[in-house]
Amino acid sequence: MTTHCKQTCLLVLLGVLALAGCDRQPAEPVEMAQGQEPYLRYCASCHGNAGEGRLPAFPPLDGSEWLELPPEGLALIVLHGLRGEIEVAGRTYRGFMPPMRNISDEDLAAIIAYMDEHWGDREPTLGAAEVAALRDALADRSPLVGREGVVEALDQLEELE
Ligand code: HEC
Repeated sequence: MTTHCKQTCLLVLLGVLALAGCDRQPAEPVEMAQGQEPYLRYCASCHGNAGEGRLPAFPPLDGSEWLELPPEGLALIVLHGLRGEIEVAGRTYRGFMPPMRNISDEDLAAIIAYMDEHWGDREPTLGAAEVAALRDALADRSPLVGREGVVEALDQLEELE
C-alpha cells in the first residue's frame, strides 16, 4: 500500500466513525410534532406545509380568525367540507373544500390539536371520541356554506345534546 492510499483509508475510516457517531445522537430535531404528519398528508396540499395557504385559491390557517371557532367547528369543516364566499385574514375566497370523511377520528383529533397549538394559540381539547360523536351526530348534513354554515351546524349540534 502506498502512503497516499493509507492516508485515504484512514480518512475514510474516520469518516465512517464520524457518521456512526452521528447515528447515536438523539433524533429529536427531525421528530414530527404529533398531528403534523396527518396535517401534511391531508391538508398541506391546499393550505401549505406551514399553513400559509396558496393564493389566490386556498386560504391560510396560520393567522386565520377561523381558528377561533370552537374546535368542533373545525372538525365539522373537515367532515362536511366548506363552500361559498368567505373572509380569511382580510381576503375574500370563493372556493370549495371537499368533505374528508375518510380521515380517522384519531388523525382528525390530532390535526385539530396541531392547529390549536400552532396557529390557534390555545390548548387542544377535542379528542378522538368527541370527533367520533360529531361524525355520527351530523352524518347527513350537506356541505357547510360560509362561516354562517359552520355556526348553524354548531347550533344544530347543541340542540342535539
Ligand atoms: C382540496 C383542497 C383542500 C384541502 C385538501 C383542505 N382544504 Fe381547507 N379549505 C379549502 C378551501 C378552498 C377553503 C375555502 C372554502 C371557501 O372558499 O368557502 C378551505 C377552508 C378551510 C378553513 C376555513 C378558512 C381558513 O383558512 O381558516 C379551515 C379551518 C380549513 N379549510 C381546514 C382544513 C383542514 C384542517 C384540512 C385537512 C384536514 C383542509 N382544510 C384540507 C381547501 C382545502
